[in-house]
Amino acid sequence: MKNSKFNRYTITAALPYANGPLHIGHLAGCYIPSDIYVRYLRSLGKDVAFVCGSDEHGVAITLKAKKEGITPQEVVDRYHELMKKSFEDFGISFNHYSRTSSKIHHETAAGIFRNLYDKGEFLEQTTEQYYDEEAGQFLADRYIEGTCPKCGNENAYGDQCEKCGSSLSPTDLINPKSKLSGNTPILKETKHWFLDLAHYTDFLKNWILIEHEKDWKNNVLGQCRSWLEAGEGLQARSMTRDLDWGIPVPVEGAEGKVLYVWFDAPIGYISSTKEWAAEKGIDWEPYWKSKDTKLVHFIGKDNIVFHCITFPAILKTHGEFILPDNVPANEFLNLEGDKISTSRNWAVWLHEYLEEFPDKQDVLRYVLTANAPETKDNDFTWKDFQSRNNSELVAIFGNFVNRAVVLTHKFFDGKVPALGELNDLDREALQQIKDFPEKIAASIERYRFREALSIVMDFARTGNKYLAETEPWKTIKADKERTGTILNIALNIAANLAIVAEPFLPYTAAKIYGMFNMEGLVWKDAGNADLLVTGINVNPAALLFEKIEDNVVEAQVNKLLESKKQNELANAVAAPMKEIISYDDFAKLDMRVVKVLTAEPMPKSKKLLRLTVDTGLGNKTVLSGVAEHFKPEDLIGKQVVMLINLAPRKMMGVDSEGMILMAEDRDGSLKLLHPNTSTSNGSTIS
Ligand code: MF3
Ligand code: ZN
Repeated sequence: MKNSKFNRYTITAALPYANGPLHIGHLAGCYIPSDIYVRYLRSLGKDVAFVCGSDEHGVAITLKAKKEGITPQEVVDRYHELMKKSFEDFGISFNHYSRTSSKIHHETAAGIFRNLYDKGEFLEQTTEQYYDEEAGQFLADRYIEGTCPKCGNENAYGDQCEKCGSSLSPTDLINPKSKLSGNTPILKETKHWFLDLAHYTDFLKNWILIEHEKDWKNNVLGQCRSWLEAGEGLQARSMTRDLDWGIPVPVEGAEGKVLYVWFDAPIGYISSTKEWAAEKGIDWEPYWKSKDTKLVHFIGKDNIVFHCITFPAILKTHGEFILPDNVPANEFLNLEGDKISTSRNWAVWLHEYLEEFPDKQDVLRYVLTANAPETKDNDFTWKDFQSRNNSELVAIFGNFVNRAVVLTHKFFDGKVPALGELNDLDREALQQIKDFPEKIAASIERYRFREALSIVMDFARTGNKYLAETEPWKTIKADKERTGTILNIALNIAANLAIVAEPFLPYTAAKIYGMFNMEGLVWKDAGNADLLVTGINVNPAALLFEKIEDNVVEAQVNKLLESKKQNELANAVAAPMKEIISYDDFAKLDMRVVKVLTAEPMPKSKKLLRLTVDTGLGNKTVLSGVAEHFKPEDLIGKQVVMLINLAPRKMMGVDSEGMILMAEDRDGSLKLLHPNTSTSNGSTIS
């Protein structure tokens, strides 16, 4: 960034839908990467506007409202606050977090629509659109699902297939179904305003595939290429919808229609910047209109088409705005091998994580960056979380800083010792202090945050290796001055490490700054071996990271499995009814309340327990295939229901004289049936 042509940075992170809490997939997708980038820019002293906000329009919101039986406004009010707080709690350092229901946003989005309308950019077309007769409503976007004509995904939305990233129209879907009633919709005429994207093909091809061929990520270029070079070319897309939640279309004859959420949402970046600038008393326009401003959109891969095709087409047509210099989209993060899903509750929610791990924001930031889905989908597992914490953060990073500080207190009273004569190991370490920050910066500037973080960790390893090779705990016995030199260098490595780690691990960096009284140091200070001047005080070592035990992560995995089970139960269907029988058939069954007297595993059998029960008519022996579901002590002393007149059957040399009756739940688990109060053994059941 030394000879950058940019004097100003506008950095955006996708506006999350205000329809649920934030989870680790959100953080990994775009908020942590954008935050790393911005913290780095700020550390360089750059002028940055880092903007975001809640995406409060669209069918994602109205569907949620319908499901919960509340209004869309109540949905967005609830989640806007929760999301805003989660971002703050994880140190995502937006300059401004706005919301698209704000007045300034409605005005800005309507103004841009009107600008394009007045230029005659929209095709005004009356076409047949899907309509749900039962719900009395047109089916836009997520109100309709069907099979994607491009990739065959059966759950493609009316406006987009999240699997292949294509943007769609409801009429493109194969076998469309209404999400409101489940019915197959009918076609009905309605008028809308379309953006004729085909018209922008040459501009987009040149701008993306030629000008940015070298600096945009391959996953982004790949998706763009597939649309721009597809045989049928770009299709016209409607920028308006027949919905009652959103920004009213600002033209005559459009009553009851609103702007398409993907028309208004990206404009939210501009509105958020306006709101921020107004609060600061500065001019917002340079951040969106000056050629010396670098605009970067951080997003997840399902947002690529809107940020690389539609929004740039809108900005370009408007004419006053700059275009993004880069759109570094990440792929998806999975969780324990399965797709993260809000509706299936398969997620690690940020607010819940902080309840379990208060003060461990940096551990999650670290793991999500070290394992970021930068070039392909990746998996988050609690095992990996634990091992990266224990064997990387604790064993390498924390251990190094801790040793440097503790030894300084032990041998030098907590004062930075002087640098004496240097040997080869020292010179090598000093060279590393010079080299590492540049290498890390180079990776950050190329949006390779994983790589950058692994270099940060190599820097910490260098520190550990230096201490291991110089052994200050040994030299202290014979040569205090030599020991001082070693610790001076080690402390300066630690101080440099804090500066370069700050974008990734801001809470940890703050602790180190606190130990070294080095507030105010920034990236340009890194690379120097005299950040900590001889004689200054170092505060006692603060705890940076601590070991995470097996039972802690096991509890997290169990929590996930439990929620999966609940979910499966809620969705599983009951077994179908068996054929009708006569009363006489039923009357033949002799079912009784019995008491389990003894229970023990059958030798050599995984499944069978051998029970003795009191039937009220004497004791019977039963072999029951429940050993995988119950322990003997779960059964002993319990009253249960038994079919006592089943013909005896020999199993493993033992006669089983009946059958214990149990409920089999939809997930296959077994539940005992007890009388609700104590009942005489042998009571009949009829
Ligand atoms: N709300 C969208 C999503 O969660 C992202 C909107 S990004 C913006 O997928 F550009 F529209 F703001
Ligand atoms: Zn598809």
